[in-house]
Amino acid sequence: MSEIELLIDFHKDGERQGPGSPEETGKALALIGFEQDEYLRVADIGCGTGAQSIILAKHINGHITAIDLFPEFLEKLDQKAREIGLSDKITTQRQSMDKLQFGENELDLIWSEGAIYNIGFEAGIKYWRRFLKAGGYLAVSEISWITGSRPAELEQYWLEAYPEIDTVSNKIQALERNGYTPVAHFILPPYCWIDNYYRPMQQRFGKFLEKHGYADTVKAFIESEQKEISMYEQYKDYFSYGFYIARK
Ligand SMILES: C[S@@+](CC[C@H](N)C(=O)[O-])C[C@H]1O[C@@H](n2cnc3c(N)ncnc32)[C@H](O)[C@@H]1O
Repeated sequence: MSEIELLIDFHKDGERQGPGSPEETGKALALIGFEQDEYLRVADIGCGTGAQSIILAKHINGHITAIDLFPEFLEKLDQKAREIGLSDKITTQRQSMDKLQFGENELDLIWSEGAIYNIGFEAGIKYWRRFLKAGGYLAVSEISWITGSRPAELEQYWLEAYPEIDTVSNKIQALERNGYTPVAHFILPPYCWIDNYYRPMQQRFGKFLEKHGYADTVKAFIESEQKEISMYEQYKDYFSYGFYIARK
């Protein structure tokens, strides 16, 4: 199995594929404050198995188009939506976030948790803006420095993994530079990382190794995931996901 196939095979069994929580998704939605009688056209970009697509569908009057590159994740979301009776509010579509098939000025809300890094924050907010109606909202979570300075080891690790990591204030400036009015922002607390994402991953490591016959490629994959977890545990005072809400 290639690295990407391993990643899909491992993460498709997760409730979520990145840090977050139903509460923080709800908080971001409440900060926007849509009227209940407003019918909304929403895109959830890089939805994974749909942890937040489901929350959005529960709280929003409207329709969610949930986009991801990998059908394995979308199938899980379809299955969950069917089980809880939300299929009529969520349509999954395999699309790449850098070649979206929406029309210009079509969407009331673009949502994206822990995924915009795949296109790059600034390229993403710039490209996605055309699909929002005037006055439409963007709600994205993005890896961010939460202090003005940080240990060199941590800086090096993230500069190799995602050089666009930056301070909260610089992320907000990027929104301003690209035609958005910042509305609110907050930082994801540690339980979103540890309790909701990393501990469930660690609980699946053993079975995953067994399933793949303890192959070296699988051991290397688990080691790299464990390295990410250790970096977070050691340095969580310096970085997190910032949740950014802005208006076109
Ligand atoms: C860290 S996960 C976050 C998933 C989900 N939003 C969550 O919080 O559980 C990033 C997601 O982006 C998706 N992705 C990666 N590249 C993509 C692309 N070019 N277009 C659409 N989705 C992509 C991945 O398949 C994955 O589901």
